[in-house]
Amino acid sequence: MSEQVSKYNKKTVEDIEVSGKRVLLRCDFNVPQDKATREITDDKRITAALPTIRYLLEHGAAVIACSHLGKPKGEVKPELSLAPVAKRLSELLGMEVPLAADVVGQDAQAKAKALKPGEIMLLENLRFEKGEEKNDPEFAKALADLAEIYVSDAFGAVHRAHASTAGVAAYLPAVSGFLIAKELEIMGGALENPKRPFVALMGGAKVSDKIMVLTNLLDKADTIIVGGGMAYTFLKSQGHEIGTSILEADRVEFARSIVEKAKEKGVRFLMSVDLAVHTDYEDSADFITVDVSNIPENYMGMDIGPKTVELFSDAIRGAGTVVWNGPVGVFEFENFSKGTRAMARALAESGAVTIVGGGDSAAAVEQLGFADKITHISTGGGATLEFLGGEVLPGVACLLDKE
Ligand code: 3PG
Repeated sequence: MSEQVSKYNKKTVEDIEVSGKRVLLRCDFNVPQDKATREITDDKRITAALPTIRYLLEHGAAVIACSHLGKPKGEVKPELSLAPVAKRLSELLGMEVPLAADVVGQDAQAKAKALKPGEIMLLENLRFEKGEEKNDPEFAKALADLAEIYVSDAFGAVHRAHASTAGVAAYLPAVSGFLIAKELEIMGGALENPKRPFVALMGGAKVSDKIMVLTNLLDKADTIIVGGGMAYTFLKSQGHEIGTSILEADRVEFARSIVEKAKEKGVRFLMSVDLAVHTDYEDSADFITVDVSNIPENYMGMDIGPKTVELFSDAIRGAGTVVWNGPVGVFEFENFSKGTRAMARALAESGAVTIVGGGDSAAAVEQLGFADKITHISTGGGATLEFLGGEVLPGVACLLDKE
């Protein structure tokens, strides 16, 4: 087993006796909500935690679940209460999930103490406490005092060195739930021992968000494909005039160096050959399609063109492993969502191990009904990017290693 995979080979709930124990379970219940009604608009992050919750309850643990929601920054913000999550979780589990009125205060302590094996409760939003994001040892200790074992299943938050994602592990035996175990196994496996060719499809608006990932992938991938807003900085670095397309002028040199290093390392590097371009940043059927060498001065790139769809799709279809992060066009505009949709289809139709990370690419796959044809859709946003960037994630590093 390689060094990196063993780095991710963490103890899970199955490696520790949970029966009769109080378990602090860190979840990522940071779910999207309707701004007006606070209704949960997508409960995937809650359903993703169910296998671990059910396992713990069935094995006689008393589960004290906790999560952050939004960014209340150490203040109690009633609109960011976890009440809607407690309600949804109760419905999904078919049992009452009481919500503590506080995080580590009197109510949380009393409820945790009274909790019986096979029962579950939820603490209030962790970020109502200032100590959470500061990784304050006192707050971490107060959390730890509620339980005897710490289980983390909050993959979406493992890149945060906060009290509930990392600090608490100093005081309790710390293991992963099934969700983190799956994310580590599939994504760790893809990085360390991919079925080849390994194709990385990177999109999204900014090069600056993808510096670590691109740099790391140069040593891992056989093919790197670049699309989306960040592609224009790459096209510029190759001498193309990009009209009014989004440009990160201070990243042109970095883009050029990535293309050069890819050449040196024998990594195939694919960029758009044609584009759907428009005069304004708006949804319009009035766009034109041009080759990358012919972008008119007052036009901006909005999506990849049909020749590029073919080029990218061919590479994806021939892959052994594909990792995809970020849309290749302005996906939220119907007229410029075609490229991203085509990428989702290509992934679904390839026989490769396919991994999708990031909100918009995951949304594209789901909207098209391809989700069940994808090997793994990561629950992480920032966490997935940092993971693919080869970072040691604090919420993973703090868990016990398998012997
Ligand atoms: C996410 O939504 O990516 C995670 O829940 C982390 O949230 P954060 O970016 O507010 O730390």
